[in-house]
Amino acid sequence: MAKGKVDALLGIVFGDEGKGKVVDVFTPRYDVVARFAGGPNAGHTIIFEGKKFVLRSIPSGIFDEGKLNIIGNGCVIAPDLFMAEAIELETAGYDLKSRLHISRRAHLILPTHRVLDRAYEAAKGKNKVGTTGKGIGPTYSDKASRIGLRVGDIQDNFEQKYQALKARHEQILRDLHFTDYDITEEEAKWMEGIRYMSEFPLRDTEFEINQALAEGKNVLAEGAQGTMLDIDHGTYPFVSSSSTCTGGVCTGLGVAPNSIGEIFGIFKAYSTRVGSGPFPVELFDETGEKIRDIGHEYGAVTGRNRRCGWVDIVGLKYAIMVNGVTQLIMMKSDVLDTFPTIKACVAYEKDGVRTTEMPYDTEGWEAVYEELPGWQTDLTQMTSPDQFPQAFKDYIDYLEKALERPITIVSVGPDRAQTIER
Ligand code: IMP
Repeated sequence: MAKGKVDALLGIVFGDEGKGKVVDVFTPRYDVVARFAGGPNAGHTIIFEGKKFVLRSIPSGIFDEGKLNIIGNGCVIAPDLFMAEAIELETAGYDLKSRLHISRRAHLILPTHRVLDRAYEAAKGKNKVGTTGKGIGPTYSDKASRIGLRVGDIQDNFEQKYQALKARHEQILRDLHFTDYDITEEEAKWMEGIRYMSEFPLRDTEFEINQALAEGKNVLAEGAQGTMLDIDHGTYPFVSSSSTCTGGVCTGLGVAPNSIGEIFGIFKAYSTRVGSGPFPVELFDETGEKIRDIGHEYGAVTGRNRRCGWVDIVGLKYAIMVNGVTQLIMMKSDVLDTFPTIKACVAYEKDGVRTTEMPYDTEGWEAVYEELPGWQTDLTQMTSPDQFPQAFKDYIDYLEKALERPITIVSVGPDRAQTIER
């Protein structure tokens, strides 16, 4: 961690890698914590002073007094959900308005964006993306179409702009014959959310971040989702709609590429995916069930079962390449404590063709595995790498060799204390 730099903490698989816990460990080391992409489709579970919070839009540095938290221009924000999330934190005693700045360039998720999300999914039949239903795709579409509403619009003739965009959405919904919806209550809450949000510092945050960097402060860019859900580099079209990779840090915060310092790539000792789309390592047997049960792999936002499988070296290598990952963080190692053997996917195979490079279209590829002995030891009480059983050390070595990056942090349980630096 260098002064005057932006370090990025990025999920490098399908999200849900446990970024919330790591950010919690990391934040004391940073002056500014910023979200650069995504919105309330994310759910970062954080246990702070014994109380559990699920942060969706608010950066995880919010618990520390004296830290500046930023919702950057690359994010999309739903005022009603933001208000609910913020009030919960305020009720718990955290003074948000002095610690949280929102970019005026971030885009607003309207209630009708959420209806459109549902309508587009319904129209897709069996090719549904399995979105979180938070209106993410339609909001980013409007941004790219240059018709979206930004946070800064709240300060200028807002009602008229809102009604114009809503009317446009209603017309699309009529064209799609998707008319069975009622947003009356939701809209009232949303407008209340707009009033509430306008009490926050709505700023040109790119200047604030660059000023902080010029003063030698350090910034943590807190990722959301993961590389495989990136709009460009993920398993398109089964992706989210934002840039979840390192490039997204620059565009989503307004910082130059040469201000990026460390790039932490976070993954689990196994793989999960929520929603539809290709997932070559998916296990449909009791091993997959066992990983889900032990790892409590149920979505933080939607409560859906996460699909589970072994670690995917093909995917991780691709993610390391497109993000320029400098250090790796392996989470939830303890979930594999009782397995007699562990597998790692080293290649994909389809129609007799084998590849170790992430294919353009991951549909229909099967995973080729290497097998390693399990450690069959309880890791959860361990506090230093010296205590690790040999088979677990071998698993770490194996991954480091395959991925050509150091694994500098290993997590062996949900508690902050179960985060071991190597
Ligand atoms: P959307 O972001 O709601 O449009 O959903 C697009 C895809 O990304 C779906 O497969 C979601 O399940 C997935 N997704 C979105 N956010 C997250 C997340 O925070 N963790 C895991 N998957 C996510």
